Amino acid sequence: MTESIKQKVQDQFGVAAADYATSDVHAKGESLGRLLALLNPQPAWQALDVATGAGHMALALAPHVARIVASDLTSEMLETTARLARERGLTNVELLRADAEHLPVEDASLDLVSCRLAFHHFPRPDVAAAEMARIVWPGGWLAFTDNVTVADRAAADYYNAYEKLRDPSHYRVDSQAEIVGRFERAGFEILASERLSKEFEFHGWADRQRVSPADKERLLDMMRRIPPVLEPLFAPRWTDGTMYFSLWELVLVGRKR
Ligand SMILES: C[S@@+](CC[C@H](N)C(=O)[O-])C[C@H]1O[C@@H](n2cnc3c(N)ncnc32)[C@H](O)[C@@H]1O
Repeated sequence: MTESIKQKVQDQFGVAAADYATSDVHAKGESLGRLLALLNPQPAWQALDVATGAGHMALALAPHVARIVASDLTSEMLETTARLARERGLTNVELLRADAEHLPVEDASLDLVSCRLAFHHFPRPDVAAAEMARIVWPGGWLAFTDNVTVADRAAADYYNAYEKLRDPSHYRVDSQAEIVGRFERAGFEILASERLSKEFEFHGWADRQRVSPADKERLLDMMRRIPPVLEPLFAPRWTDGTMYFSLWELVLVGRKR
């Protein structure tokens, strides 16, 4: 399972890399600004962004730190990050092809480790969190975001089935308590947490992951039948011949104890 999900990640994101360069939720999402404001990054910092995708978090941090390593499992994503860094004239961004669960980085060697909108792809998220804690020194910073779901287990399973039908490389979105607990167990003290809500137009969201027409119908049908406890999260709206819905994103800032 662990290796097959990682192959699916590379299959899915390899073909979608260019779309992630321009995807609004990734390139302009509110969480980028919130993380920068909560973190207050410093010019001497050495940083690493885990699962950087098209590099939006790494490129937002780059002007504020000495050096940032943008790491990802998918080569095409790193090529996209490199192109965007060049276009923006950023010279302190380095690329590293690496699995989040096994980072080839020395212990306690960084001031900041970040990871935005990617943990739901990791089959062993506790291992990834422990890796992130290992590579920053005591007092070093954690900047994290990911989608988050409700605590009710059956509703959380329904939520995850919806996301997984759209993207087979989706592994699992957890509740806020599960995510915070994971980083606390890894050795971080969580200093700030915020939950954002972001809106999607259904077809744009599905097309970014090449969803077939038949699976789109299944997804729309799932949304018509959501459990009541997911109503406040998805908040589906049917208008203009399409469907709009929301996802929640958890933003965390922490420090290594
Ligand atoms: C939605 S994109 C990330 C978005 C990006 N961090 C941003 O802020 O725009 C998810 C990324 O996670 C990467 N990924 C998934 N599993 C991974 C793993 N085990 N190790 C490293 N990268 C992984 C994928 O290759 C993909 O580029």
